[in-house]
Amino acid sequence: MKTNRSLVSVEDLSTEELMDLFKLSTDMDRDLRSGKRLTEMQGKIMATLFYEPSTRTRLSFESAMRRLGGSVISVADPRSSSAAKGESLADSIRVVSSYSDLIIIRHPLEGAAKLASRFSSVPVINAGDGSGQHPTQTLLDLYTIHREFGRIDDLTITVLGDLKYGRTTHSLLLALARFEVRVNLVSPPILKVPSHILDRVKSSLQMVETDSLESVIEDTDVLYVTRIQKERFADMNEYRSVIGSYSVVRETVDLMKQQSIILHPLPRVDEIDENVDNDKRARYFEQAAYGVPVRMALIHKILE
Ligand code: NCD
Repeated sequence: MKTNRSLVSVEDLSTEELMDLFKLSTDMDRDLRSGKRLTEMQGKIMATLFYEPSTRTRLSFESAMRRLGGSVISVADPRSSSAAKGESLADSIRVVSSYSDLIIIRHPLEGAAKLASRFSSVPVINAGDGSGQHPTQTLLDLYTIHREFGRIDDLTITVLGDLKYGRTTHSLLLALARFEVRVNLVSPPILKVPSHILDRVKSSLQMVETDSLESVIEDTDVLYVTRIQKERFADMNEYRSVIGSYSVVRETVDLMKQQSIILHPLPRVDEIDENVDNDKRARYFEQAAYGVPVRMALIHKILE
């Protein structure tokens, strides 16, 4: 992987680079578990700029950098930063990139990470840009699938939920288009995948769009559940019309193959019942835990 390069879209990574990252993630995971002290990022500084709420993404990035021996500077609440005084994102990025070796940004506007990468003198990683993309979530989603099945090809992946606003699903579909998979897209009719994403994947992916989870659940190897992105709706009546429109409960899981798995980028609201958590197919907490080794591998590849 070329060093000193930004990661704005999953399309910035080749399939070979993905596989390379997975191998390194497994090494990082092993080092973490053995308690080995890593120092390769000593002297390096990562800046996190989160203009939107986050728990897992920010903390796992910060944990990853510290585990590698590097340090982290961060604006805890951008409302307390100069953005509140009217500073443009471009100016903030110009300055922050002079204080750090790597910038992780999350922003409510689609395209913000791309813009940041243009004004930054150091690599920028997109940690979510509005309803756009969330490439590092996809890295750990695919990593989890790869660890569980030993492959990504030849699986049936059902993506359930808010496929319109859910940036994790957009990045996931763009990445899955490289593999030989069957994809079921299950959502309420008003939350289907936007056409600009569908157009990019439809020639390479075998896809079924439906609003019935029951019609595809038995053939599913990976059930990828997502939250309705309440904060993205312009019309709250539209949001209210889809509340509770799908939910994965015990009875749903009973229909699934024994060897299948259930993933969710988290946070969950009510789309997976807590009774499902102790089923052996529920893997969303392991998936979240992989956020650290996968982001360690990514930081290593970008800054090595
Ligand atoms: C996701 C996000 O921010 O897009 N969360 C995450 O990073 N794990 C999913 C969500 O908020 O629903």
